[in-house]
Amino acid sequence: MKVDGKEMRPIWLSSENPLEVQVIDQRMLPHDLVIASLRGVDDTIRAIGEMWVRGAPLIGATGAWGMYLACVTAPEGRVSDAWLTHQAERLKASRPTAVNLAWAVDRMMAVVTPIEGDGARVRAARDEALGIADEEAENCRRIGEFGAPLIEAIARKKKGETVHILTHCNAGWLACVEYGTATAPIYEAFNRGVDLHVWVDETRPLNQGARLTAWELGKYGVKHTVITDNAGGHLMQQGMVDIVITGTDRTTWTGDVANKIGTYLKALAAKDNGIPFWVALPSSTFDWTMDDGVTDIPIEVRDPDEIRYVQGRLDGKTVQVLVPPLGSACENHAFDVTPARLVTGFITERGRCVASREGVLGLFPEKGKEALCS
Ligand code: MRU
Repeated sequence: MKVDGKEMRPIWLSSENPLEVQVIDQRMLPHDLVIASLRGVDDTIRAIGEMWVRGAPLIGATGAWGMYLACVTAPEGRVSDAWLTHQAERLKASRPTAVNLAWAVDRMMAVVTPIEGDGARVRAARDEALGIADEEAENCRRIGEFGAPLIEAIARKKKGETVHILTHCNAGWLACVEYGTATAPIYEAFNRGVDLHVWVDETRPLNQGARLTAWELGKYGVKHTVITDNAGGHLMQQGMVDIVITGTDRTTWTGDVANKIGTYLKALAAKDNGIPFWVALPSSTFDWTMDDGVTDIPIEVRDPDEIRYVQGRLDGKTVQVLVPPLGSACENHAFDVTPARLVTGFITERGRCVASREGVLGLFPEKGKEALCS
């Protein structure tokens, strides 16, 4: 996507040094565009865990590049199975909720380990990591094509009046390589000339909505307004939201959706107000082995200091300020699960479907055996 006229992705292999992967350090946005370099698996784990990179498809792509870095930093250049297995386990443990991470790392292992020869393994890892990033970009482009008609239909019904879309967290290109998941239909409908406006939940505690989604939409020229996390229900009651579109970090094949904390409350409010609640995701975000998302999806609990300290800009510097009394306990549950019954449907790279096992397997019939035998 373009940032001030320059094509950018949130992750790429350095053109100057093939032993280095570069990422946008998303902690510093929107006020500073900082590029960070990853030179090994330790750097990659830190970047994922500390959320220099974040968002399910991007965490997957970063895990894939982490496996490439594992290959190029193998001790004495020996890319052994034991070394790769150990680094794969470490990478997969760096964040627990987004299933794309394990999906991408396992895919890298499946491609690299059957290959003989250290150099051949390095080349295969580089090609596969590039392939995963490009595939996810294409999947998101297709999500845009399948999702835009939903927004166009609302515009027709409203006779061209502005369509108001609510989204939570950042499920944009920063989270995905290109286009985004939730934002792909928005960008595509915007490109097709639909008059639209996005309500952006600020998304405490790390403010991915206020910092990242607002930045992305602004750079693209999409009208948007940042709101507090608790405003959505009120706006829905007042007829100010036409559709909700979110991304997801892990969705069970039965239709339960894990996403950034607060998504469930938006889905409840949408249901109560008869507003469609759509979830956009590439197939890499489906968990084909879990039946019950509410009980089984691992929910990350992060450092409570992310609640205590809010980051912002003051006098040209990025600063952190303390909000609650230091003695008060804080608990930082990073995701929640929205049950399938509250979800209108899914927008995927293969099309749209209802949020049910029949709907999902209708689009991905080849996954039926894996899902039904799990
Ligand atoms: O904690 P984060 O910022 O990695 O959480 C990201 C989200 O919850 C996104 O909504 C999700 O990954 C959607 S993917 C585009």
